[in-house]
Amino acid sequence: GDLSSLVVAVDGTSGSGKSSTCRAVAERLGLRYLDTGAMYRAVSWWMLQHDVDVDEVDEVTAHAHTPQLESGTDPRRPTITLDGVDVSVEIRSDAVNAAVSPVSTVPAVRARLVELQRDIIGAGGIVVEGRDIGSVVWPAARLKVFLTADPSARAARRAAEAGSTDVTATQESLLNRDRIDSGRAVAPLTMADGAVHIDTTDLSLDEVVDLIVGLATAPAEA
Ligand code: DC
Repeated sequence: GDLSSLVVAVDGTSGSGKSSTCRAVAERLGLRYLDTGAMYRAVSWWMLQHDVDVDEVDEVTAHAHTPQLESGTDPRRPTITLDGVDVSVEIRSDAVNAAVSPVSTVPAVRARLVELQRDIIGAGGIVVEGRDIGSVVWPAARLKVFLTADPSARAARRAAEAGSTDVTATQESLLNRDRIDSGRAVAPLTMADGAVHIDTTDLSLDEVVDLIVGLATAPAEA
């Protein structure tokens, strides 16, 4: 089939291997890549830099449209810029880890970012990762994947990515984010209708990538 207009929606919990998986799938299929978590993180970073109290919904709402965001969609070198400045490193800080869940519960933030995401997705073939891509952002995606993994496996991967040895603290932090992400009123983390569930606990990155590429390139059911 024609992959140039293929949208692959990949949702799942923190540390389930979404980012590495999605980038590799996009490279294999020659598609663009969008990390929507990076967009929520960049807005959160902006709020922290501008002394916005991220627990005050009205304050966050008042600034929801101010940060100027740009997402680079090359899977080999994804970028996220704020007012033209790349903040790829800053958005992975502990401060942002703590701020992003409250910021991403604010409806005005979600409405704005979903609109930006739809503009990017609408331009053609892409692998998109997040929490609400198959359910809210792009329910028409031809392939929807829901990635999960056991908390201990996820914490070990996240800690390794961050160069940290404190796996227990990492596990606490990501379980806390899961609780907020799954419990919020707007666009909670949930498996979308028609999504394929892949538990990555006992799978290597290559195995997960192969599975998704196989699903993406399989002939459509009659
Ligand atoms: O994927 P990540 O860990 O970088 O995402 C960071 C946070 O952003 C996550 O805790 C929830 C939020 N998020 C969201 O609410 N909706 C998305 N589509 C992507 C991320």
